[in-house]
Amino acid sequence: MLNDLKAGQKMCQAALVRVQKVGTSSNGGVFARGMLEDNGGHLAFICFDAVLVEKMRNLEGPTAYMVGGDVDINKFANDMSLQLIIKRLEELVPGDDISNLVPHGDFDVEAYKNKLANYIKAVRTPTLRKLLETIFSGNTYDAFVHNPAGMKLHHAYIGGLLQHSVDVTELAVAMADRIENVDKDLVIAGALLHDIGKIKEISAEIGFPYTNAGRFMGHIAMTSLMVQEAALKLNMPAQRLEQLQHILLSHHGENEKGSPVACATREAFIVHYADEINAVMNQFEQREGKGAWEFNRMLGRNILKEKL
Ligand SMILES: [Fe+2]
Ligand SMILES: [Fe+2]
Repeated sequence: MLNDLKAGQKMCQAALVRVQKVGTSSNGGVFARGMLEDNGGHLAFICFDAVLVEKMRNLEGPTAYMVGGDVDINKFANDMSLQLIIKRLEELVPGDDISNLVPHGDFDVEAYKNKLANYIKAVRTPTLRKLLETIFSGNTYDAFVHNPAGMKLHHAYIGGLLQHSVDVTELAVAMADRIENVDKDLVIAGALLHDIGKIKEISAEIGFPYTNAGRFMGHIAMTSLMVQEAALKLNMPAQRLEQLQHILLSHHGENEKGSPVACATREAFIVHYADEINAVMNQFEQREGKGAWEFNRMLGRNILKEKL
């Protein structure tokens, strides 16, 4: 993190580069200066490398790079603050550690991983439990516990999908416990899986952009396909698979909200309302302005974020 650095250190990390001035110094050399930013704070920089200065001259706005250089006292500031003398400036490539540039949720990821494992264990129907164990494994599991649940609207931070899915399951199970004639195993499976397609719809890269596949298909269809593929390999009984697919496909509640079918079973209504209330409650956690009332884009209205 930028705010952990000390004078004399060398550093190399992903940071947002904000160029403020590109010019020529009194000795004729070129320079660029500006600010680096990450989740932890910011740090002034200066660069005298002609090739890198040229690169910065052509930037159209703040851009994320892998930045390397020497940390030094900023001689132009009178407050002993630090600056980085940039020696390296490289484009980010997949696999680079960008965790200090993307938003993180304020929750205990390990505790949520445990809750996920416990919900899977709580499923008594063997075919459903096997399906959950198969899907929540390997690369799919890694992406599920890491990815955001949204680009902007709700749970738009690392681990957001895990937190949202587990919290939806908790709410859905609470309802299933109080309502008669509900198949709780189906509710748990439906709630845990309802947004799994988001691991393919939204990228965990900076800005959490939609993927091409995500734009073409959307997470409801992608979720349904992922579950169908896994279920067919396991020879899951057709009727149970159809009931599960119904929960997944109807989880937005109505056709107008993107679901190809509207809820038609107790289990589907329960997962839908649990999903909706969790996404709505998450709006109260996000703070943009300072006032007690704040306009919320997802809900299209002002909501009260603080006690009056
Ligand atoms: Fe969804
Ligand atoms: Fe959801």
